[in-house]
Order: sequence, then structure tokens, then C-alpha cells
Amino acid sequence: MYEAQKLGIKYLTAAVTLFGVMILFGLLSSLYYLFPGMLYNVFDFSMSKTLHIDTLVIWLLMGLIGAIYYYLPKELEQEVVGIKLGNLAFWVFCVSVALVALTFLFVQYGEANEFSLWFINQGRKYVEAPRWAAVGITAIMLVFSYNIIATCVKAKHKMTGILWVLCLDLVPLVVVYLDAFPADTNLSRDLYWWWWLVHMWVESTWEVLIGCIMAWVLMDVMGTSRRIVETWLYIEVMLVLGAGILGLGHHYFWIGTPEYWLSIGGFFSALEPLPLLGMVVHAVYDAGMHRLKTGNRPAYFWITTEAFLNFIGAGVWGFMMTLPQINMFSHGTQWTASHGHFAFYGAYVCGIIAVLYVAKQRVSGVQTMGGNRWKWAYGFLNIGMLGMVMGLLLAGMAQAFFERAAGGSTLMAYTVASENPWFTSGIWARTGFGFMFALGYVLLIIDLLKAPVPQKESAALPPVGHAQPEPA
Ligand code: HEM
Ligand code: HEM
Ligand SMILES: [Fe+2]
Repeated sequence: MYEAQKLGIKYLTAAVTLFGVMILFGLLSSLYYLFPGMLYNVFDFSMSKTLHIDTLVIWLLMGLIGAIYYYLPKELEQEVVGIKLGNLAFWVFCVSVALVALTFLFVQYGEANEFSLWFINQGRKYVEAPRWAAVGITAIMLVFSYNIIATCVKAKHKMTGILWVLCLDLVPLVVVYLDAFPADTNLSRDLYWWWWLVHMWVESTWEVLIGCIMAWVLMDVMGTSRRIVETWLYIEVMLVLGAGILGLGHHYFWIGTPEYWLSIGGFFSALEPLPLLGMVVHAVYDAGMHRLKTGNRPAYFWITTEAFLNFIGAGVWGFMMTLPQINMFSHGTQWTASHGHFAFYGAYVCGIIAVLYVAKQRVSGVQTMGGNRWKWAYGFLNIGMLGMVMGLLLAGMAQAFFERAAGGSTLMAYTVASENPWFTSGIWARTGFGFMFALGYVLLIIDLLKAPVPQKESAALPPVGHAQPEPA
């Protein structure tokens, strides 16, 4: 195994560990909704939620980085340049995450001054980590980019389409992240840029990364030909850029930006589900082409699930509330949280779990992976997430109706809506299914740690990692 692949596995291990921390704080956050006075003035909802969503961003970033370190040397059949520096960056990353988590747990807040911004909390949703840590993450992403670009330059005659897409995507990956640093005391202007971080960084730049990873996983577990995955990748990237850039406007409806964003945002963001639909067609096409034959069942199931749930969670759930006429009522309700959970899970969590199974197969050296144990984790995680998403959708729709449409968006209407039985049952369902999701996580960890179960019908499987020729 290449050194870079070992580093990739370290990143994936750190990622899946933080996934557990994230679930813990998700469950805790959900309990405040049910028992509002809980831990009052000791550890408030806002800190719990901060830890939940910041670990979300960090573990997914680590997972994406890990997957790329894993596949890059395989793609070029040579070691990654500067891997020692990459290893150092990994440890710096882990120590920084731990320090920030300790700060959030025990210091929590500071006075409204520069010191707090640098050392305690930047106070911007999803990127609350203090500025020193944001500088650190920028440095880590620069090292990661250097590793990839230097390796590609060294192996330039072996460059592939996937690697070109990956290298170009590194530019926005680093540049848009600079947006994590607070810029402005004018809230409208600050939000204007902050949304680039959520929409351009997470929803577009990462979506391209997961597109590359999906291409590799499909070649790996099904032997899909490179010609096909690369053609699809180009189509998806063009659609992501074509619809996604101006689609940003769907976040500019109510923050004090000019009115033309209503039409621009509504129109372009309505096209955003197209690339995601492309990924579904791609996965289904490959599955049909190879008659569902695979050497790694769990990875194959998770990557196909990624394609479907990315489309449904991001595409369909996002589309539901992307027109200003609807968003006016749904904006910032639990409906948004429903979409947020579904989209992140579908787009990234499922994809990273697929890579975990690919790496596990490589580490344990078995020819084919199957058995039934992995199915329990797959079932509990998916049903748990679907249950949470439906509960939140119910709660969000109740808010949109009782608080916004019927109640006229007053503070009183907000309070009344939050006591509405449709709302409260949705919130209870979220916690209940959240526990189911957590059980799925535990089963996933057990399955990943135990020896793999070989697949029974191994005779007709394509050898893993070698593309087989496509039928004409
Ligand atoms: C046991 C499972 C989980 C539970 C109980 C849970 C619970 C919560 C709660 C209570 C919030 C705060 C909502 C608010 O501010 O009103 C939240 C926010 C969030 N969670 Fe989770 N979560 C879980 C798992 C996940 C997973 C797996 C993901 C992503 C894949 C995720 C992504 C998010 C995001 C993006 C937000 C911010 C949403 C927004 O403010 O619109 N959560 N979660
Ligand atoms: C990977 C893809 C995506 C992810 C991870 C994602 C995630 C999220 C998250 C976490 C939020 C809540 C942000 C916050 O207020 O804290 C959000 C908001 C939103 N998303 Fe997405 N999303 C994705 C794709 C899409 C797509 C394709 C559409 C539309 C077609 C869409 C439409 C929206 C809209 C309209 C909002 C604003 C909701 C509101 O007004 O409260 N999203 N998204
Ligand atoms: Fe967006």
C-alpha cells in the first residue's frame, strides 16, 4: 500500500470517529427541544448545536480529503509527492480540532473583542471555530493541494480527466474557504459573503469532489470503464457550475439584497437538481450495464444510495422551497433543517461510508465482500435518517402554515406554532429516529472493525480495481 493510502486511511478513521462525536451532540441538541430547561446556563443549546454542525463540516472535510489521498496514488500508480508534510498536516489538524472542541466545551464565550475572535469563537454558523483554527485549516488545505498538484505535475503524462477536474476544483476549495473569516459588521453584507461558504463551498465545490470520488468508487467496485465515468463527470460538473453559481441567489431573498435576486435565485436554483439527477442516471446505467455484479457489496450499495439520496435530499428537498413564493413561508423553519440533514447525509455521508468499505476491503485483502452484517448498519442509518427528515418536514410544514401563513409571522404565532401537535410530534420523531440513527452508527463501527465476510456467489465477479471492457 502507498504511504498516501495509509494517510488516507488515517484521515478516514479520524473522520468516522468525529462522525460519532457529531451524532452525540446532535442527540443532545435535539433533547433541548423536548426538555427546554435542560442544562440551563451550564451547557446551552447553542454550544451543543455549534459542536454538532462544526464537527459535521470537519469530519466530512476529513473524509473527502482521506478518500482523495486513498485514490490519488492508485490513479497515478505512484507515491504522492510531499507525503511527510501531508502526515504532519494531518496531526496538526487532529490536535487543532481537539483544542477547538475543548474551548467550545469549557470556555464557550468571550467578550465582544478581537481576542475572542482569534481564540474562542468566530460566531459564524458552521465555521464558529476561532480564527487561529481557521488559519490552520487553510494551511492544511494548502498542503493537501500541494500534495495533489505536485504529484500530478510529476506524473503529467499519466493525467486523467478525473484528476484535471480535481486539480481545478482545488482552487475554489481553498479560495472560497477564506470566506470563513468574518469580514463585516454590516449583517447584510456579512451574510452575503457567508452564503458563498455554505452554497459555493459545501454545495458546489464539495459536490465536484464527491463526483470525482464517485467516479473512482464505481470503477473500483463495478469495473465501470473510465470513458463512461469521465464523460458523466464532465456533464455533472458543467451542470453544477451552470446552475449552481447563480443559484446562490436562493439565499439572497430576505437578507437585504436587491430584488432582482428573487427571479435570478428562483430560476437558476430550480435547475440545480439536474446534475444530481445526472448522477442517479449514471449509477443506474452502470448497475444495469454490469448486471449488479460487484466485488464489494457494501461499497456498491452505499455509493448507489449516495446517488439517489443526493438527488432526493439536496435536489428534491431543496427544490421544494427554492422558489421565493414558497421560501417566504418555509425560510428558516424546521423544513430547512429537514433539507439540511437529508442533503448532507445523501451527498456526503453515504459517499464517505462507501469509501470506508473500499478501504476496508483493501486493508483486509479479501477478494469479495458481502455477508449480511453490514446490512443492519445500512438499514438503521437509512431508516433513522429518513425518519428524522420526515419528522422535521412535518414540523417545518406546521411552522410554515400555522406560524407564517395563518399566524402572520408574529412572535406570538411562533410560540403558538411551536406548541402545535403537528410540530411537537415531528420534534419527538426526530429524537426517536435520531437514536435509531445512532444505533446504526454503532453497528457500522462494529462491522468496519470486524473481519470481512466474503460474498458467496463469487464466481462471476469482476476483479476489483480493474476496469473491464464495456460491451459495444
Ligand atoms: C442522531 C442524529 C442527529 C440528531 C438527533 C440531530 C439533531 C440536530 C439538531 C437538534 C439540530 C439543531 C436544529 C436547530 O437549530 O433547530 C441539528 C442541526 C443540524 N444537523 Fe443534525 N442531527 C443528527 C444527525 C445529523 C447528521 C447525520 C447530519 C448530516 C449528515 C446533520 C446535519 C445537521 C445540519 C446541517 C444542521 C443545521 C441545520 C439548520 O440549521 O438548518 N445532523 N441537528
Ligand atoms: C449537496 C448539496 C446541498 C447541501 C449539502 C445543502 C445543505 C443546505 C443547508 C445545510 C441549508 C441550511 C443553511 C442554514 O440556514 O444554515 C440549506 C439551505 C437551502 N438549500 Fe440546500 N443544500 C444542498 C443543495 C441544494 C439544492 C440543489 C437546492 C435547490 C434546488 C437547495 C436549496 C436550498 C434552499 C432554498 C435553502 C434555504 C432554506 C431557507 O430559506 O431557510 N439546496 N441547504
Ligand atoms: Fe444553496
